[in-house]
Amino acid sequence: MSNLTSDSQKRVLSGMRPTGKLHLGNYMGALYNWVRLQHEYECYFCIVDWHALTTDYADTSQVAENTREVALDFLAAGLDPEKCVLFIQSHVKQHAELHLLLSMITPLGWLERVPTYKEQQENITGKDLTTYGFLGYPLLQSADILIYKADFVPVGQDQVAHVELTREIARRFNQFYSNPIHPDAPIFPEPQVLLTPSPKLPGTDGRKMSKSYGNTILLTDPEPVIRQKLKPMVTDPARIRRTDPGNPEVCPVFDLHKVFSSAETQQKVRQGCTTAGIGCIECKSWVADAIVAEVVPIQERRRRYENDPGLVKDILADGEHRASARAEQTMCQVRAAMGLAE
Ligand code: TRP
Ligand code: SF4
Repeated sequence: MSNLTSDSQKRVLSGMRPTGKLHLGNYMGALYNWVRLQHEYECYFCIVDWHALTTDYADTSQVAENTREVALDFLAAGLDPEKCVLFIQSHVKQHAELHLLLSMITPLGWLERVPTYKEQQENITGKDLTTYGFLGYPLLQSADILIYKADFVPVGQDQVAHVELTREIARRFNQFYSNPIHPDAPIFPEPQVLLTPSPKLPGTDGRKMSKSYGNTILLTDPEPVIRQKLKPMVTDPARIRRTDPGNPEVCPVFDLHKVFSSAETQQKVRQGCTTAGIGCIECKSWVADAIVAEVVPIQERRRRYENDPGLVKDILADGEHRASARAEQTMCQVRAAMGLAE
C-alpha cells in the first residue's frame, strides 16, 4: 500500500507526433498503455506539433488538422481529462524556452550521435533534414520531459536513445547549475524509460503497420472497412489451397490474433489451421470480430467528442493551463539556477 501511495506521486510524461487519424499500431504502441498508466501516476500526455515541424516544415498545411484528429483519438482511446493532463506542445511556450536554454549546454556531438538522426536522414527521402531544427529533435524531446521533472517516460524501443540523451542532459545541467536556495538538491531528476511492450503488429501486407506503407487499419475505420481491409491480407504463403494445413507461427493474421483475440480463439485457430479444419477466410473473420470489439467503444466515445468541439477545446485549454503551471514552476528554478535576471 505504501508503495502504491508513493507511486501515485510519480510523474509520467509522453508525447505523440500529430500524424493524423491513428491506426492500430499507434494505439497498441502507446495509447493502450497510457490509458492504464493514468490510473497509477500523475500523467502528462502531449501532442508534439513542434516535433512535426522538424520534418514537415516545407508543408505545414496538415499540422493543425492532424493535431485535432490525434486529440480526438487520445480522448476516444480513453485518456480521461479528469485523470491526466492532455495538451498541445506548442501551447506551452516554456517547452521552447527550456529547449533554447538546454541548447546552450548541449555538445553538437551528442546530437549527431543519436542513432535516429542519421537513420532518419537516410530513410526519409524527399525532405531536406540537414536543418538545425531536425538535429535538435531529441533535445526538444528532452525539454518536454525535463520541464515536468518526469520520473517515467513510456515509449517504445525506438525512443530509448532519446530518453538516454535526456538523462545525460539532466546530469550535465545539474553539474553546471544548482538551485541557489537548495544547492544540494539537483534541479532535474533523471527520467527512466517505461518500455511499452510492443507486440508484433503487422499491417495488411504483412509488413509492420505503418502510415507510410499504406497498410493500416485506423481506429476510426467502420466495421465493413475493417473486414474489407483484412480480406486480402497476406497469410502463411505455404497454405495455397483450403485443404493445405497452415502454420500460424509464420502467418501475419495470427500475429493479429495474438494481440486482439482471446486465448480460446487463438487455440481454435491453431487447431483449425494446422489441420486444415478452418479456412483463412473464416480465420480472418474471427480476427475482424476481435478488432471490431476493441474499436467499437473507442468509436462511440470519439463520436461524442466530435459532436462537441467546444468540449474538446475546453479540455485542451484546461490541459494547457495545468501543464503551463507545472512547466512555469520548473522554469522559475531553471532561470534562477542559470543566473538570469528576475
Ligand atoms: N519522439 C517521440 C516519437 O517519435 C515523440 C515525443 C516527443 C516524445 N516528445 C516526447 C515521447 C517526450 C516521449 C516523451 O514517438
Ligand atoms: Fe493464417 Fe489463419 Fe490462414 Fe492459418 S488459417 S494461415 S492462421 S489466416
